[in-house]
Amino acid sequence: MKITVIGGTGLIGSKLVNKLRTHGHEAVPASPDSGVNTVTGQGLDEALKGASVVVDVSNSPSWEDAEVLKFFETSTRNLLKYEAAAGVGHHVALSVVGTDRLAESGYMRAKIAQEKLIQESSIPYSIVHATQFFEFLKGLADISVVDGKVHLPHVLFQPMAADDVASGVARVAVGQPVNGMVEIAGPEQFRVDDLVRRRLAALKDPRQVIADPDARYGGARIGERTLLPGNNARLGETRFESWLAQSAGTSVAA
Ligand SMILES: NC(=O)c1ccc[n+]([C@@H]2O[C@H](COP(=O)([O-])OP(=O)(O)OC[C@H]3O[C@@H](n4cnc5c(N)ncnc54)[C@H](OP(=O)(O)O)[C@@H]3O)[C@@H](O)[C@H]2O)c1
Repeated sequence: MKITVIGGTGLIGSKLVNKLRTHGHEAVPASPDSGVNTVTGQGLDEALKGASVVVDVSNSPSWEDAEVLKFFETSTRNLLKYEAAAGVGHHVALSVVGTDRLAESGYMRAKIAQEKLIQESSIPYSIVHATQFFEFLKGLADISVVDGKVHLPHVLFQPMAADDVASGVARVAVGQPVNGMVEIAGPEQFRVDDLVRRRLAALKDPRQVIADPDARYGGARIGERTLLPGNNARLGETRFESWLAQSAGTSVAA
């Protein structure tokens, strides 16, 4: 089966392409690096030719509110238009657990807009909602700095390894469209500030992490359980301590 992976050079995309190939699929990474740009439409007809499934694990180069919204709206509109023309039978997109509860965040509003376009299109689809990646913990610290200190709420979350995200997305991509949402998450719950503190300590990053009840998450006010998945989430296997022991400091920039 030909599966085109939009953003196939990124953190999740590159792992996903490898996993799909290992299972015998023709996984084609598509991104500006390989001459495919979903914002301009460049190279999309060729990348989608003969594809049964398109998986969108791209991300906006800018996370500024207006820019990120423009990226996900334009990119998703273009993708769905080219998919309809190419006869693609399944659109899979990676989004974030709790997007609808995080609409105060400009980034999450862009993900909500992306999801809405997919839901309203004629292409059968599956939206995968993942929790925060372990690889993103340093990036989360970087976007939460006030006067040199990292301010984060002392609330629950259930983050996961990028490798488990890729496995979860691969499983959905080779299955039937659910025309709805599938949640994936890590095997353990933590407090956001506690885990970021542990990650920074492991990176020998001296920044102090403050548990701050007024701190926002990417611009959104959140409560004790806002970031948690529902009871039916599919859980990855990788525990934080074993990921930490294996990872040579892999991080996603914010
Ligand atoms: N961070 C988290 O904790 C988290 C949690 C849940 C869900 N997610 C979602 O996971 C997704 C993937 O994140 P990631 O960290 O793997 O992203 P990433 O490593 O930043 O990779 C982004 C990918 O998008 C591609 N891209 C950028 N502009 C493009 C364009 N105009 N046309 C086509 N491709 C383009 C990049 O291509 P080049 O390499 O060629 O530039 C790259 O392959 C995102 O949609 C995010 O919302 C993230």
